[in-house]
Order: sequence, then structure tokens, then C-alpha cells
Amino acid sequence: MTSDLTTPAAAPPRRGEPLPAELLDDAERMSREEVRDLQLRRLRQTLRHAYDNVELYRTKFDDAGVVPGDCRSLEDLARFPFTTKADLRETYPFGMFAVPMSEVRRIHASSGTTGRPTVVGYTDRDLSTWADLIARSIRAAGGRPGHKVHISYGYGLFTGGLGAHYGAERAGCTVIPASGGMTARQVQIIRDFAPDIIMITPSYMLTLLDEFERQGVDPRSTSLKIGIFGAEPWTEEMRREIEERMDIHAVDIYGLSEVMGPGVAQECVETKDGPHVWEDHFHPEVVDPITDQVLADGTCGELVFTSLTKEALPVIRYRTRDLTRLLPGTARPGFRRIEKITGRCDDMIIVRGVNVFPTQIEEIVLRTPGVTPHFQIQLTSRGRMDHMTIRVEARPDAGPEQRETAARAIARGVKDGVGLSVEVAIVAPESLERSVGKLRRVKDQRTA
Ligand code: DLL
Repeated sequence: MTSDLTTPAAAPPRRGEPLPAELLDDAERMSREEVRDLQLRRLRQTLRHAYDNVELYRTKFDDAGVVPGDCRSLEDLARFPFTTKADLRETYPFGMFAVPMSEVRRIHASSGTTGRPTVVGYTDRDLSTWADLIARSIRAAGGRPGHKVHISYGYGLFTGGLGAHYGAERAGCTVIPASGGMTARQVQIIRDFAPDIIMITPSYMLTLLDEFERQGVDPRSTSLKIGIFGAEPWTEEMRREIEERMDIHAVDIYGLSEVMGPGVAQECVETKDGPHVWEDHFHPEVVDPITDQVLADGTCGELVFTSLTKEALPVIRYRTRDLTRLLPGTARPGFRRIEKITGRCDDMIIVRGVNVFPTQIEEIVLRTPGVTPHFQIQLTSRGRMDHMTIRVEARPDAGPEQRETAARAIARGVKDGVGLSVEVAIVAPESLERSVGKLRRVKDQRTA
């Protein structure tokens, strides 16, 4: 990022430069010990609230032979049962709400790919906490009061749009509620309204970037200084690509509907070293997805969250299916970080016994000259064998020779890096489906 950040109010801290102390809220200044004390107090209240008000928790705790009072330290949480998406589906739509419906001020839902959606609810206080945490996330990303924020996360039942919206207002920013879709108009609005910040999925950012180029606009020349990207996995290679092409800071925002929505964790712009979990409101654990054992910090596994202040929908040890590890805090020493999430348990593709994550393919595609970042993974059956084809769009200026070299380089990269022989098809520019929100990269057409 080299752009001239002229207005003092609009200047995000440079890498390594801490946020001015007056912009940190009280919890962000806490020591690790203070955060842990606060967590234990809030955890005990949450367990009690869940047990007293949600039948499913009462049954689960009783079956496990635990009562809320058994939790005397943060480590005691491991004795309590997990909650899963299936629990929310079975109690569809409102069975896990812990307050009367008259206190539920808003409902969101996560579509999911199969079955019933999961429904989540918020009280007034929940909505206020959410706005505070998004505002904190925007400050951590380098946003300041007076910045204009263009929000391209979808508005509606998805938590992305409205979640970001109220938080950006709480941060004292001016919100441009663009929502997803109508790509040509999004670009026009960015040119005309001159936002400082964009909140968007990384895959939709790529779609917008192509549209900038189609309209003859150099993406490096826009007013944008910061991009806050989340809702789907993205790699360091993608960060470099976006930062280079747009001359902005690209930072990671993480969250999920069941735990709140966006803003459960946020990367700080001065370190760009993975999102800090806002641990005053969420207690993270990492567990072995097979044995369910809690893993030590630094070890990779499935991320599990317990909410600490939620009223309408407290979640106890919620299995996110996201794979990562916990790391010590840096820019906010009181809070731990998660390593950038590059996959989910259910994203993992098993091809001829080899485990592959789409992000591994993304890394390889993005470092290959002659092709664009647009690719798709197609799985088919050839006899009893799985077959993987990676379809990658050529750059418009790449000739036949360069396309062939690119195909060979990608196939070799996957063979060496992942241990899998694949077919690579370099396809014409603009021929693959574009994202307008969360992208589905894998087309599984296997019959076996
Ligand atoms: O995607 C909430 C959100 C909106 C987060 C906007 C960030 C920005 P769900 O639709 O419930 O909620 O999907 C949650 O998306 O479990 C992850 O698998 C994935 N995810 C979200 N953020 C990230 C991220 C929203 N920064 C699911 N990196 C999560 C990787 C992410 N995966």
C-alpha cells in the first residue's frame, strides 16, 4: 500500500504503528489476566442463562451430568456438551431462543446449503453489542469517524449487510448501503461517492475489480484506502493480489451467524497477522474434530465458541467447523488471535484419498502468470476413480503458449504441493461464473 493518505482523520495506521490509545475502548486495554477474569464471570452467567431458559441446554447438561455451578474456572468449560448446527435445525425456528419473543428485536438466518436454515435472534442489548464490536473492528482496520463506508455485503436475512451497517454508523462513519449485486452500479457509486472503506467478500471484490477495468477505471486511482474482507476463506496470496491491484489495505473480518455475525474477530491493520477474537464477548476453544479433545493454543483444529454476553441466543461450545489455531495477541495483547482461516471441515475435498482445500488451489493459481484469479474446481468420476479438473480463466493478453505454460505450472504446483495429479483447463477470459457474495468454487459431479 503506497497511496498518499493525506487527510489526518482518514489515515489508517501504517504497518507496525499502533492505534492511538484514545481510540481503544476499555476492554481493548485490558491485560490477559483481566480478560480471563471477565470471561469467567460472564461465562458463569451465560451457562446459568442457557440452562434456565433453553430446554435443549437443560437436557444436554443433565445428560452430561453437569450444572452451571460446576464451572469454576475457564478450563471447566470442557466438561460441558457441545452445540452444533443440527441442534439449531432441530429446534427450528425459535426453539433455542432464551428470551420471550417480545424481547427479540431482530431475526437473521443463515441459508446453509442443505436443509432448513438456521435462525438467530437478537435483543436490543445484543444488537447494541454487535454494533459496538463492528465499530471496534472498523477502528482496528484503520477506519475513523468521518470515513465513508461502502457496504457490499448482502442486506437481508444474511448477517453481513445489516451487521456491518449499524456498526459503521456506530463508528461515526457515513454508510453507503450498496448491498450485493448490480455490479456496474456499484462501480459507478464508488466513483461518484468516493468511499474510504469497502466491506465485501473477497470473491465479489474480484468481480468488482474486473468491472472497474471494463469501465476503464484504474482500481488504484479510486478513493478506497481500506478493504474489510470476510464471510469466506481467502489466502495471503489473495491479500497481495487485492492490495497490489487496488492500492489499499486488505484486512480480514471473521464471524458467523450463530455466534453473532461479522465482527466476532477482526484483523488489526498495523499487524495484518490474523484476526483478534473479541474475547470480552466470545470465548474460543480449538478442539480435535475427531476426538473432541480441547487442544493447546498453537495447535490446529476446529474452532469452538461460547458466547459470553448474548441474551436472545446464548451459544455454548458451538462447533463452527472452521479450521484454525489460537495464537497469542499482538496488537491487542489481552485478546488471542486466530490464524487466518483457510478452510472448513466440510470444505475439505477428498480426491483419491488425498485431502485438498480450495484455498490450496487458490494459492497456486494466484502465483501463476498468464491467468486470472478466477477458477473453479470440478470433480467427476472416471470409472471408479475421482477426477479433478481445475478450470482457470486466462488473462486476456495471454497467448496460446503462455496459457499452456500456465496449465503445466498449475498442474505441477498441485502435484508438488498437494500430492495430486489433476487436469488443468485454461478457459477464455470472462467465461466462469462470477461471485456476488459468497463464492462456491467446487462443482462436485462425482457419481461414485
Ligand atoms: O458469513 C458472517 C460474516 C459476514 C462474516 C460478513 C464476515 C463478513 P455465515 O453466513 O453464518 O456468517 O457464515 C459463517 O463463513 O463459519 C466461516 O466458514 C465463513 N467465514 C466467515 N468469515 C470468514 C473469514 C457470515 N474471514 C461462515 N475467513 C464461517 C474465512 C470466513 N471464513
